Amino acid sequence: MRQKSTKTTSPSESLVKAIRRATRKSPYTSGHCQRVPVLADMIADAACAADWGPFAGFDLTGEERYEIHLAAWMHDCGKVTTSEYVMDKSTKLETIYDRIETVRTRFTLLQRDAEIDYLKKQIANQGSEAERKAALDARLKQIDEDRAFIEQTNVGGEFLADEKIERIKKVGAQRWRDWTGADKPFLSDNEIYNLSIRKGTLTTEERKIISDHVVVTIEMLEQLPFPKNLARVPEYAGGHHERMDGKGYPKGLKKEDMSIPARIMAIADIYEALTAADRPYKKEMTLLQSLKIMKKMQAEGHIDADLFKLFVEAGVYRRYAEAHLKPEQLDTVDERELLSV
Ligand SMILES: [Fe+2]
Ligand SMILES: [Fe+2]
Repeated sequence: MRQKSTKTTSPSESLVKAIRRATRKSPYTSGHCQRVPVLADMIADAACAADWGPFAGFDLTGEERYEIHLAAWMHDCGKVTTSEYVMDKSTKLETIYDRIETVRTRFTLLQRDAEIDYLKKQIANQGSEAERKAALDARLKQIDEDRAFIEQTNVGGEFLADEKIERIKKVGAQRWRDWTGADKPFLSDNEIYNLSIRKGTLTTEERKIISDHVVVTIEMLEQLPFPKNLARVPEYAGGHHERMDGKGYPKGLKKEDMSIPARIMAIADIYEALTAADRPYKKEMTLLQSLKIMKKMQAEGHIDADLFKLFVEAGVYRRYAEAHLKPEQLDTVDERELLSV
């Protein structure tokens, strides 16, 4: 393995720095963009040191290593055009703020309406007091339960059953009066649509916005006048959401269409995302949890199986974790078991 050069002669470096600065608009993206290059460098080193399979003849010059490093730094630069509310959307009802607060207020209004209704009936001496009180208590209890249900549904989960979607619609079909006195459905169509998201917190449209970031990354990087020794930065960076089976995006490339550095980007991106402790929409995973998911991903043709084997065998996952993750994430990993078919 040749020595890494520490200085760059790229005339576009200041522009690269400016773009990097722009990705700091989201602290989570910023952290991600700082840690992915660390991982990419470590995997590239391990690939150079390995002498088996596709890595037997694989080596990198200092300039080539810098090219990978820079690509990893820039891989998500297209996110500068993605609105934060989509990128970091932590609940289903979140736009630029979490609409659950407005919905909670509406529930409070429903309860107040129920109390007013009870008092009006009391004044008009309608029915017995026992009946009126029982009706009020039942209504208040129902509203409390509906509110708890909507609050719980607002948090993105793994799977939302059909019955729950029916219940969201039922809650949403109740009526409430707004400040003008207008009678309205309790939840708007858009609120019902968002609450009915089956997995995570993003709608199909928002997922599309997120996946477009890589198209923008490629467009931006292809505009930069990279010198010849950095000419592959757009290819490496633009490949981080491709899959080995051709089902990735944006180009639907297959393993054989992709260079080893482009495949390295995908692994670095995924491992950072799984283990990250700073995302508002998910909790960090332990090493074993993350690697089990990645094992499944390599079996399904998502990530490169050879690189996954290298990642585990060379202990990259652990060295990275020891330096960058919380001690409680470092659980015991049986590497043999993990690499068994
Ligand atoms: Fe990305
Ligand atoms: Fe990324």
